[in-house]
Amino acid sequence: MMRTDLLVFKQYYLTAAKKIPVDSPFMNDINHKYQHSVDVLHIGEKILENTPELKTADTKFKTFAKKALLFHDVGRFKEALNRYKKEKKHIKIAPSACDHGLIGYNLMKKNPAYNDMQILFALRYHGKMMEQVYRSLLFNKIKTSPKKNDILKILFLVRDADKLSNLKNIKKEDHLKKDVFYRQLCKDAKNAPLSESVKEQFLAKKTILFSTVYSFADRLLMVLSWIFDLNYEFTKETFVKNGYDKYLFSELKNYHHNKEDLKKIQTLIRETLEKKA
Ligand SMILES: [Fe+2]
Repeated sequence: MMRTDLLVFKQYYLTAAKKIPVDSPFMNDINHKYQHSVDVLHIGEKILENTPELKTADTKFKTFAKKALLFHDVGRFKEALNRYKKEKKHIKIAPSACDHGLIGYNLMKKNPAYNDMQILFALRYHGKMMEQVYRSLLFNKIKTSPKKNDILKILFLVRDADKLSNLKNIKKEDHLKKDVFYRQLCKDAKNAPLSESVKEQFLAKKTILFSTVYSFADRLLMVLSWIFDLNYEFTKETFVKNGYDKYLFSELKNYHHNKEDLKKIQTLIRETLEKKA
């Protein structure tokens, strides 16, 4: 079952890989996304096993969940190909301007083996703010579905596994300095302190909107703001156990030096994770 899924998934990767030169940074991006997707599947399986309400679910639910985990970023391949084609014509697309969730959703909707809301909803919304999800037309549609709870459980599972996988790479490989956002940053923004609006969102316990992120410090705080959007206990425990909060905060201190701000941020991190862990 999962073997077939892996083969299908690889096909979507190859469609883009065949058209991007090996030495292009976009090739690195899709290679990374391929590994990340398999990693998200494995982390998601761990959350499944360690969360009573998911562990006791039936096989059908688990199969949908695993497909959603593996395919959640399938839109990234097409996105990278689009970006590569544009950059060849010297056109740069802003990192937040492309909706890979929507690309993946439209792509897999056309594939009958994956055309189910238990998969598609997570593809479409795994990277969106939850406020946005609850306001969406599609959410309104699924509100009356008998599968509504399962659809949301899978969305939360993908969101958690995605974050844990990204955090692992960020801490291990300094991955925030390798992505499209960093490559497009100007020198000033690389070293600038936190932007006022980004700081405000964090202190209001909001997950920071990517479109408001200007500096690298903002990007670090954006990742830290994921602490406000962890859904399952096991995810929260893993977050703390792996020291992601401490790592990101110590990185942030290299760019933002206002002691009062740092104190407020640190207190909020502690309060949020203590409550959760
Ligand atoms: Fe992802």
